[in-house]
Amino acid sequence: MRIGVLTGGGDCPGLNAVIRAIVRKGEGFHGHELVGFRHGWRGLVEDETRELTLTTTRGILHLGGTMLGTSRTNPYKTEDGVQRVLDALERERIDALIPIGGEDTLGVAAKLKTEGVDLVGVPKTIDNDVSGTDFTFGFQTAVQIATDAIDRLHSTAESHDRVMVVEVMGRHAGWIALYSGIAGGADVVLVPEWPFDVEEVCRRLEHRHRNADFSIVVVAEGATPKEGDFALATADRDEFGHVRLGGIAGVLSREIEGRTGFETRETTLGHILRGGTPTAFDRVLATRYGIGAIDAVDAGDFGTMVALQGNEIVCIPIESGVGELKTIDPALFDVASMFFG
Ligand code: F6P
Repeated sequence: MRIGVLTGGGDCPGLNAVIRAIVRKGEGFHGHELVGFRHGWRGLVEDETRELTLTTTRGILHLGGTMLGTSRTNPYKTEDGVQRVLDALERERIDALIPIGGEDTLGVAAKLKTEGVDLVGVPKTIDNDVSGTDFTFGFQTAVQIATDAIDRLHSTAESHDRVMVVEVMGRHAGWIALYSGIAGGADVVLVPEWPFDVEEVCRRLEHRHRNADFSIVVVAEGATPKEGDFALATADRDEFGHVRLGGIAGVLSREIEGRTGFETRETTLGHILRGGTPTAFDRVLATRYGIGAIDAVDAGDFGTMVALQGNEIVCIPIESGVGELKTIDPALFDVASMFFG
């Protein structure tokens, strides 16, 4: 078989590990031919390919980013996009496709399935918000980077008697904020799932400051206050309709300082969470996903995506991964909140 591979949406640590595993087992064991499409769905719309062989994928396991490049191109929002994708698949003689991506990329894959494209998806995002799978690769690396940053912020916060507001990624789901908040000992964690009350945040900090001189607040970029949307959203939207977020930490810091009088600083971790080498956990998970995906293609188990359920890699209908995002577990938030203010 000739099998196409693409990485779409925001990059994340572990993408190269998936590609390497697909090629290692696909070419090295099953004897298939692999073709990489550049920059996500754009590579199919514009028929831009990159050779994927045992040789070209050597030495990439530990590298961040993606050797194929990525983009947020949506063929369903591009003129003749879907037809161009179908034409490219025919021209490149592709028998099956492995799209690696988050909700948006897999959403396009689910639609292409109805056009008759044989595919197996691989769930990816640092946000960990793809349904049907317990964890996406990249998430654990992002949590580790955020936790390391929070550890560092602790010492400077303590020296200066300050409140530190740390903004982490998480557009619709607060998994990174929640996990790094628990691991880093945050005094307040704010997530997109539940609008927060600024007064309540300040009350918690004031309560804590009866016995402490500094605090750490972890806020997901998509978190919003109850009384109105003060996230600094730009007018720009991508082809999947997402507003570019970022800036909540700055506004929140000023609110906290103004209301409590505590000196407050903000740090936005942003794309640092997506860069660099994947942790060992993510390399293992990404490798298992890659092997699972190529095995599913080899077995003709199309229209599916690989998923981690418990400690098993399983194949589920691709529709179960799209449509509804996986938001945070309230029980885990209760664990975090035991340590608030
Ligand atoms: O891939 C998910 C994500 O990292 C979100 O957490 C974030 O809002 C978004 O991507 C940022 O996207 P971009 O890299 O396009 O700015």
